[in-house]
Amino acid sequence: MYIRRLELNNFRNYDSQKLVFTPGINVFFGENGTGKTNILESIYWTAMSRSFRTAEDPILVKQGRESARITIDAVDNEIEKTFLMDYDSVNRKKNLYVNGTRLSRVSLIVGQVPVVLFSPENIMIVKGEPSLRRRFLDDLLSQIDNGYYVTLNKYLKEVSHRNYLLKGIREGRIKRENLDIWNNQIMENGIKLLVQRHAAVEELNLILKKELTEGKFEVRLGYISKNYASYSPSDLKSSYMEFFRTKIEDEIIRSATLIGPHRDDLEIYYNNLGAKNYASEGQQRITTILMKLAEGLLIKRKRGSYPVVLLDDFSSELDEPNRGFIGKTFSLFKQILITTTYKENLRGFEAAKEFKIQNGKVVS
Ligand SMILES: Nc1ncnc2c1ncn2[C@@H]1O[C@H](COP(=O)(O)OP(=O)(O)OP(=O)(O)O)[C@@H](O)[C@H]1O
Ligand SMILES: [Mg+2]
Repeated sequence: MYIRRLELNNFRNYDSQKLVFTPGINVFFGENGTGKTNILESIYWTAMSRSFRTAEDPILVKQGRESARITIDAVDNEIEKTFLMDYDSVNRKKNLYVNGTRLSRVSLIVGQVPVVLFSPENIMIVKGEPSLRRRFLDDLLSQIDNGYYVTLNKYLKEVSHRNYLLKGIREGRIKRENLDIWNNQIMENGIKLLVQRHAAVEELNLILKKELTEGKFEVRLGYISKNYASYSPSDLKSSYMEFFRTKIEDEIIRSATLIGPHRDDLEIYYNNLGAKNYASEGQQRITTILMKLAEGLLIKRKRGSYPVVLLDDFSSELDEPNRGFIGKTFSLFKQILITTTYKENLRGFEAAKEFKIQNGKVVS
């Protein structure tokens, strides 16, 4: 898929702005604070129904205005579709339309405009909390299969309900038998998620090795959890049963569900050493960019359609060889949107189109 046209109304520092993109590399350049990242954010917000910079949607509406609208015309296998997001910040209400038809749930948009985003704070996927690594896998799988997204949200609600019951048992308000049905629920949905996550990690590793790093260096992922012997559904089921049999007292004391995909993590290796503790700043950055590109290639393989690659300021802090190395991978994608303060940072790539941004306007 590629985005042919984007229109922003009252989004961040934009009043009303139309942009026409082309396949290939589209570059947005301009000084700090002019509105480059805002363009990528508007696309991501529409495609994922949440921003990558804030959980507070009202912040995205231009100050002094009450609603924002984003329109994306995207072409997939020669068919053009219009995706429109209307957000009313007074009532905090979001509506999404595909070719004029309103989606019954906004979450149904996830996966319809596949995107992969790299932004500088994504280096926290390597350095930060496990939840960021889980989110990396969950965002990937949700875009491949909206069913994953639905199961995940259902599962997370079930876990918090089960935690509430565990607390009730600890306080003597609730009988233990009440847990059985929830044990089965979280086991069933947890196994679905685990099987898909584990398979995705294996596929990402193959893509990283065969399509992205070409034997130059190694970036590898490992799914980690101490609770499962293997990831076949039947072994997972036995692991869960064993856990419920032996660890229930711990769970009651801590009022927390201690097994399942919401507790797991991803180990990220750079040249066979844990990237979190051993890799340099630049190596961590390149590792994260490669993980995102691998995500993009896996989405392409599973969906038969290219995701739009959004790279926010990826080139700063990368040395010349690494910049060139990442630049070579761009030919694997259909459309890439890149922001940078100076065009010179992107020496060596052929931009299909350039946009100069100044104070919330495209000036050339
Ligand atoms: N809700 C809003 N209403 C109006 N302006 C906003 C709103 N939110 C953010 N801005 C403005 O948008 C600008 C930031 O835009 P953006 O993050 O896209 O900058 P940028 O061009 O990517 O800059 P940098 O090079 O520093 O990354 C700031 O000037 C900020 O004040
Ligand atoms: Mg920016």
